[in-house]
Amino acid sequence: MKVIKVLNNKEVGKMTAELILENIHSNPSIVLGLATGSTPESTYEYLIGDFKKNKTDWSKVRTFNLDEYVGLEPTHKKSYRYFMDEKLFKSVNINIKNTHVPNGINNTDPEAYDKLIAENGGIDLQLLGIGTNGHIGFNEPGTSFESLTSVVDLAQETIDVNSRFFASIDEVPKQAISMGLQSIMNAKKVVLIAIGKNKAEAIKQLVNGNISINWPCTVLQKHKDVTIIVDEEAASLI
Ligand code: F6R
Repeated sequence: MKVIKVLNNKEVGKMTAELILENIHSNPSIVLGLATGSTPESTYEYLIGDFKKNKTDWSKVRTFNLDEYVGLEPTHKKSYRYFMDEKLFKSVNINIKNTHVPNGINNTDPEAYDKLIAENGGIDLQLLGIGTNGHIGFNEPGTSFESLTSVVDLAQETIDVNSRFFASIDEVPKQAISMGLQSIMNAKKVVLIAIGKNKAEAIKQLVNGNISINWPCTVLQKHKDVTIIVDEEAASLI
C-alpha cells in the first residue's frame, strides 16, 4: 500500500487526476471504476480542466461507477448517474454508451453488473472514496469480503452524513445498489482518496488496523496495488 500525503483538497484532486491521465495515456481504452460524493469532485474538475487544455482523448474510455441509490431514477438530480453526467461526462469527449452506473430502479439482477465488468476485461483502475465508518462503495461494516454487486442497506451513519446532499434526512434513500468488496478487489489497481479530519480514523484503520469486516476498507490491505492519496487532515492519525 502506497500512501501519498498532500496539502489539501486541491492537491488531492491534482495528484489523482494526473495519475488517472497517465493511465488513460498509456491505455486509451482503459476501464475506469469511478466514485461519487464530495471527495472526487476536485479530481473531476482537474480532469475537465485538462480536457479543455490538452484535449486528452476519452472517446474509447469505459467507466463503471461503484454505486447508485435505490429508488432514484437516473434523471433524478440526487442520483449518482446525474452526478457523473454533470460533474464529468458531459465535459469530456467520453461516449456516454461507454459509461455505466448501477440502475437504482431496475436492479433485480445486481450481479449482471459484475458480469458486464468482466466482459469488458475487468476494471484497470478503481477510484474510491471512503466513508467515516470505513465503507468503500456502499459496503457498510459487516459486509462479507466475498460480496459482489448487490442491493445493500445504508448504515445510519451514512444516511446522516449524506443528508447534507438532500433537503431533509427523510429524503435520503435507505438502500443502494453497490459493487461488492470482491468486485472492488477484482480491480487491477486501486486509488483511494480522502479529505478532511472526519476521515482520519477510517484512514488509520485502512493503513494500520487489523483486517476486519468491521472496517470494510481493511480488505484493501490484501490487494497488491493500492495507492492512497490523502490531505493532511485525513492523514493526521497515521
Ligand atoms: C460513492 C461511494 C462512497 C463515498 C464515501 C465518501 O460512490 O461509493 O463510498 O466514496 O461515502 O463520500 P464523500 O466523498 O462524499 O465523503
